[in-house]
Amino acid sequence: MSAERRCVVLAVSGSVAVYKACEVASTLVQKGYRVPVALTPSAARLVTPVLFRAITGEAAVVDEFAPDAPAAMTHIALADAADAFLVAPASADILARLALGLANDLVTTTALALRPEAKRLFAPAMNARMLANAVVKRNLEGLRSLGWQAIDPESGHLACGVEGPGRLADPAKIVAAVERALAR
Ligand SMILES: Cc1cc2nc3c(=O)[nH]c(=O)nc-3n(C[C@H](O)[C@H](O)[C@H](O)COP(=O)(O)O)c2cc1C
Repeated sequence: MSAERRCVVLAVSGSVAVYKACEVASTLVQKGYRVPVALTPSAARLVTPVLFRAITGEAAVVDEFAPDAPAAMTHIALADAADAFLVAPASADILARLALGLANDLVTTTALALRPEAKRLFAPAMNARMLANAVVKRNLEGLRSLGWQAIDPESGHLACGVEGPGRLADPAKIVAAVERALAR
């Protein structure tokens, strides 16, 4: 692991858009970033950590209590390493838990332990009605007010079969937002 490579910790939550997170990870790696991955248990039911480990060459972890977890306290190791912490895709659930300050899995615990100077970004992805829900809107605003940067979802075909807002931003846009944040 080279010390000068900047580190983007990619947090993946349980959205149908997880497949796009693979492209985000791959693009960041090709641009020279370290990209360790933390998955929520729901995300790991949709895609396995093995795929992210293959794409990034880094640990991809769901359960830091597992005997084979990569560090004694993986949430601290990830938080120490993160120049940027990117939640993509960000489900309604992870946004709520981050907004509340919960620490009930590796993703949320790492988020709480981030260094103050680490850039915090999230890219929501969900059904249009979920996105329009007042509680979700409140959580989005709450995170923005805490210094998180939203990478806005796009409008278009959603996996649930409707057209509308809630589609995860294009992977290239997500990567560009991370690079802009790191350049600030
Ligand atoms: C196939 C499938 C796709 C899902 N897609 C989404 C989604 O795009 N956005 C979302 O907010 N929830 C989605 N969910 C629901 C979340 O997975 C669920 O709320 C879960 O508790 C999220 O947990 P997490 O935030 O810890 O990953 C989906 C569930 C399933 C089974």
